Amino acid sequence: MLSILSGLAHSASAQAPVPDSPQIEAKAHEMLSKLTLEQKVELIGGTDYMYTHDIPAINLPRLKMSDASVGVRTWGPTTSYAGGVSLAATWDKDYARTLGESLGNDARARSVHFLLGPGVNIARTPLNGRNFEYLSEDPFLNSVLAVSYIQGVQSKGVVATVKHFALNNQEFNRHNASSDADERTMREMYLPAFEAAVTVGHADAVMNSYNLINGQHATQNEFLNLKILKGEWAFKGILMSDWDAVYDGVAAANNGLDLEMPSPRFMNAKTLIPAVKSGQVKESVIDDKVLRIIRTSLRYGFADRPQLDPASSTYSLASKQVALDGARKSITLLKNDGHLLPLDASKIKTIAIIGPNAHPALTGGGGSSEVREIFEAVSTVVGVANLVEPNVHVLYSPAMPQMNDVFQNTKWDGDIQSATYTTNDFTGKVETRTEKSIANFHPGWSAPDEKYLSSTRYTGSFKATKAGEYLVLASAIGSDSYKVLIDGKPIVEQPRSEGQNSRYSTIDLQAGQTIHVDAEYVPSFAGNHFGLGISLDADLISDEAKQFAAAADVVVVAAGFQGNTESEGQDRTFELPWGQDALIQTIAAVNPRTIVTLSGAVGTDTRHWLDKVPALLQVYYPGQEGGTAIAEILFGKQNPEGKLPVTFDRSWDESASAKFYYPVKGADTALHVTENDKEPVDYVVPHVKYDDKLMVGYRYWTTNGKHPLFPFGFGLSYTTFSFAKLDAPATAAAGSTVNVSFNVTNTGSVAGAEVAQLYVSNPGAKVSRPERELKGFEKVHLAPGETKRLTLSLDARAFSYWDEAAHKWTVDPGKFVLRVGDSSENTPLNADLTLN
Ligand code: BGC
Repeated sequence: MLSILSGLAHSASAQAPVPDSPQIEAKAHEMLSKLTLEQKVELIGGTDYMYTHDIPAINLPRLKMSDASVGVRTWGPTTSYAGGVSLAATWDKDYARTLGESLGNDARARSVHFLLGPGVNIARTPLNGRNFEYLSEDPFLNSVLAVSYIQGVQSKGVVATVKHFALNNQEFNRHNASSDADERTMREMYLPAFEAAVTVGHADAVMNSYNLINGQHATQNEFLNLKILKGEWAFKGILMSDWDAVYDGVAAANNGLDLEMPSPRFMNAKTLIPAVKSGQVKESVIDDKVLRIIRTSLRYGFADRPQLDPASSTYSLASKQVALDGARKSITLLKNDGHLLPLDASKIKTIAIIGPNAHPALTGGGGSSEVREIFEAVSTVVGVANLVEPNVHVLYSPAMPQMNDVFQNTKWDGDIQSATYTTNDFTGKVETRTEKSIANFHPGWSAPDEKYLSSTRYTGSFKATKAGEYLVLASAIGSDSYKVLIDGKPIVEQPRSEGQNSRYSTIDLQAGQTIHVDAEYVPSFAGNHFGLGISLDADLISDEAKQFAAAADVVVVAAGFQGNTESEGQDRTFELPWGQDALIQTIAAVNPRTIVTLSGAVGTDTRHWLDKVPALLQVYYPGQEGGTAIAEILFGKQNPEGKLPVTFDRSWDESASAKFYYPVKGADTALHVTENDKEPVDYVVPHVKYDDKLMVGYRYWTTNGKHPLFPFGFGLSYTTFSFAKLDAPATAAAGSTVNVSFNVTNTGSVAGAEVAQLYVSNPGAKVSRPERELKGFEKVHLAPGETKRLTLSLDARAFSYWDEAAHKWTVDPGKFVLRVGDSSENTPLNADLTLN
C-alpha cells in the first residue's frame, strides 16, 4: 500500500460511487441469480465497439465508453487537453485532480460511463509511439498523478480505466511482442503506478495491454491479473481487454479477464459454454466477472440516474479554462541563453513564426486518443497574434511541404514499375503496373493480420537536377516492413518488428546524376500504405520562410512531431521528423534570434542545431489552448513552470534503455492461435528483454555518474529559486514515516513556480539499487522574495526495494541519503539518515 499517497482522500459528491457494502453484494448476487449461463456469457463481451450489454430484466443498463488520453474522444467534438506527458510535465497533483474532474464532466455531458484512461505506462525510451499518452519515466510521479486524476474522474460518477496493464513500453509489433522482465523490475518500475491507481486511487476499471509479458498475453496472464491485480491488490472492479487483445477465450476467462472488448471474439458462447459444461472453466469464474460488472453499475448508480448530467456542458468554458491551465503549467523552458525570453513586445516590430507546427494548432499525437476539437484550437501563430497584434507584426510560413506532398511531388526519371505478389516474400503470382509516384501512405494503425499475404517491389530512377544533399523519405504503417535501395545499396530500412512512422536518410548527388531506386515493401495487413519520395534538402525549405526570418526581429521555429510522426500503433524516430534539422539550421543561420518550440513526447536529437539557437521550449502536445499558452510564455505573461518528466538524451545510442529496446535476435517463439470459426494462425513472438532492469532514464544516468542533455525534473523559469534549511531526522526506525522539511525561496524578481523534488539514495542496501529515486515532490508558487517551508513525508515504501528472495518489499536498516533540489541532477540539500 502506498500510504504516502493517502493524503489524497476520495472526495464525496452526489455522483461519486458509493463504496461496496453487504447490501450491494446481496443485491448483485440476487441479480446474478436471475441470469442464465448464456446471458452471463453475453455480458462479458462488449458490443457496438464502445458498449457493454444491457439486461433490462435485471435493470442492468448498457454502459458507454470513450477514449480519454487527451479528451473525451469517441462521441463527437470535445475539449482537448494537455494530457498524458503534458500532465506529467506539470508535476502538479492538484491539476491532475482538476483535469480528471473536467474529463469527468465532459464524459457526463456525453453520457459516458467509462473513460478509457489514464495511461500510466513508463516512458522507458523516447521511441515508444504512445509515450505522449502516458506520463513519465518515473513510477512515483506516475503514481501520484494517476491517483489524483482517477479520483477526479470518478468523483463525477464516471469510471476511470487505468491502462495498459502492463509493460506496454513499445508500440512496434504490439500484438505479438513479449515484454520479458524479472519480478523486481516489474514491481519497482512498471507496476507501481497501476498499484497506486488501484489501491489508493480506487480505479474501478483496468485495461490489459496488447503485448505479452514473459511469453503470455496480458489478457491471459495469470501472474499479473490473478496473483497481483485481483490477489494482492484486491481489485474488485472490471478488468477489460484492449480492443482485440484476446487470443484464447478459455485462457482469458481463467486468467482474470472480465470483459472482452470491443466484441466477444474469443470469450463467447461458442467457446465458453462448452468449456463451462466440460469443467474447463468453472461457472463461478464467469459469475465473478458478471458480479464485477453488476457491482460497478450498482456502486455508481448507473441504473438509477441518467448518465447525461444536465449540469455538464458539451461546450464547456470551464473545460476550456482547464485546458489552458494545463498548457500553461506543462510547457517547459529548456534553454534561454542571454535571457532572450521573455520577449518584450514593446521592443519588437516583427515576429516570424515558421515551421510545420506553427499553424494549424497541434493538439495531440496520433491514434485512438485523437480528438476533434469543439472549440477552435489555438495555433502558435494565432496565440501570438491574439497577444501582440497590432503592435507587433506576425509573419507566418509553414516553410515545408507535408509528407504526402514529398511523395506526390517526387520527380521520378520516367515511370515507376511496380510488381505486386500474392505472397509476402516476392514469389507467387504477380501483377505489374506503371506508376507516376509511390504515394499510398496515410496515417493509421491496425492489428497485424498474419493471413494477409502480399509484397510489392518498386523499380525506378531519379535524376538530380542540382548538386546537393537529397532527402530519401519513406513511410508505412503498423508492422509493415520495407527496404529502399539506391544503386543496389540499402539506404532506408524497416524490419517487420520495428515499425516507425517514417524513416529517412540523406544522400549527396551531383547535378545530372541518375540513381537507380528499388524498394521492397511488405504490408502487415490488407492494403498498401507505402510512401517513398526524394527531394533536394534545400528545396524543402521555402524562400518565403527565409525571407520572413530575415525580416523579423525574432523568429520562432515550431518543430517536432505530429500525429503522423508520433502515433499509436507504431514507434517514432529519435531524430526529428524529416527535413526539420535542416529547417532549424537554415532559419537560425538567417536570424540568430531563433527560438525553437518542440512538440512531441520527450527526447529527440538536437545535436545538429541546439548550439545555434539561443532558446528552446518543449511544448509536448499542449491541447487546444496550446498556442495561447506558448504566446504567453514567449512574451512573459506566463512564467514557464513545466519540468521534464523524462530525461532528454543527446542521442538514441546513449539513451538508458536503447540497448535493450528491440527484440533479442533469435529469441523468437511461436504462438499458435485458433480463432473461432477461422483457420489457425501461427504468430512469431519476438522477445524484448528488459535487461536494463531498473536503469531507466535518470536512474541510469545518476547511477553511472554521467550527464544527459537535460535531466529529469529540469525546467527553467524567468525567476530563480533557492533551497535551504533542510531538516530531517538523523535516525529513524525502519518502517516509520520520515518527514523532510526545507525552505524554497523565489530569489528573482517575478512570481513563479518551482517543483521541489526529494530523492532517496540507499548506499548501504544489500542489493544493488539505483543511485537515487524520486520519492516526494511538490509544486510551490512564490512571489518575488517569498519563502515557503515545505514538508514532504516518506513512508516505508519510499525506502524499500522488492526483495526477490523474501518475495516482499524490504527496508534494509542502515544508511540512506536524502537529497532535495530542482532536478534529478541538481540537489543542493543533502542529509544522511540512518534507519534502525
Ligand atoms: C487502444 C486503447 C483504446 C482502444 C479503444 C485501442 O487501439 O490501444 O488505448 O482505449 O483502442 O479506442
